[in-house]
Amino acid sequence: MTSGGDAPGMNAAIRAIARACQYYNHQCIAVIQGFEGLINGHFKELDARGVRNIINRGGTILKSARCKEFRTVEGRKKAWENVQKHNIDGLIIIGGDGSLTGGMIFQSEYGLPVVGIPGTIDNDIYGTSRAIGFDTAVNTVVEAVDKIRDTASSHNRLFFIEVMGRDAGHIALNAGIAAGAEEILIPEQDDGIDSLIRTLKYGKKSGKSSSIVVVAEGDKTRDNVFNLASQIREELPEYDVRVSVLGHIQRGGRPTYYDRVLASRMGIYSVEILREGKSNVMIGVDLDKLILTPLKDAVKGKSAINKNMVRISKILSV
Ligand code: F6P
Repeated sequence: MTSGGDAPGMNAAIRAIARACQYYNHQCIAVIQGFEGLINGHFKELDARGVRNIINRGGTILKSARCKEFRTVEGRKKAWENVQKHNIDGLIIIGGDGSLTGGMIFQSEYGLPVVGIPGTIDNDIYGTSRAIGFDTAVNTVVEAVDKIRDTASSHNRLFFIEVMGRDAGHIALNAGIAAGAEEILIPEQDDGIDSLIRTLKYGKKSGKSSSIVVVAEGDKTRDNVFNLASQIREELPEYDVRVSVLGHIQRGGRPTYYDRVLASRMGIYSVEILREGKSNVMIGVDLDKLILTPLKDAVKGKSAINKNMVRISKILSV
């Protein structure tokens, strides 16, 4: 099952799971549309040939949803009835922390073995340094910021570019460094608007003609990027300010090699650990090695922002 916000590379994981099932002689049943499909009994058998030509495609062929009904006892009861009807004896969930929490609760209520695979462009899950989709999303953002930089420098403009990350600044921090942003604003570090004004003033004085500020969706400097830009227009009239919100473009597109390989490895491993009788764990990657974290820890914690990257971004924007 894929659940929550889709992420490029989910299809590569689905393909790996279906093929590992065939390799080990298990039946692979896909749930369509996340927990909604589990509640409505929307299932489809997948064999090795049924997942051809999807490794290169973004999105998820199984569709995804954010399902409110699964948060209710009645919803989960309906899901359990479908699980029994189809003789399902293990569930692999590819998704973010909300989806993994749903899986953990389901496991605790009905005892069905559950394994989580982290799939979210936000990369904000504890127990893995990379979630499927993050690498692709960061590359998409870098490409977009590079393009905006061309027009920003042609017109001597200051651009505020909002990137995804409702609660996390991983996309903003990594893409911001890679694309040479002057400032990166993230929810994990609130330096306040005065610090931003100081940086921008200093930038003008030191001869910068255009500037890029990458702002994570969840940044708290102002309530949204448009109000932030308005305030800067007032405080620094010497700047010609524009705003660009990248939006859902960041969730789509062909997965990078990294996401395809990571998803393939995690997909196979998920089948293997279910075969070993393990449950209630999430697969993660640490220094290229696959690791397991109890689901309860994975959903409780947030992956910490790398403070050294914040420091590096400050040095680079001098
Ligand atoms: O999947 C995570 C995420 O991309 C967040 O960064 C973003 O805030 C959210 O999803 C948007 O979700 P939706 O597509 O449901 O509006």
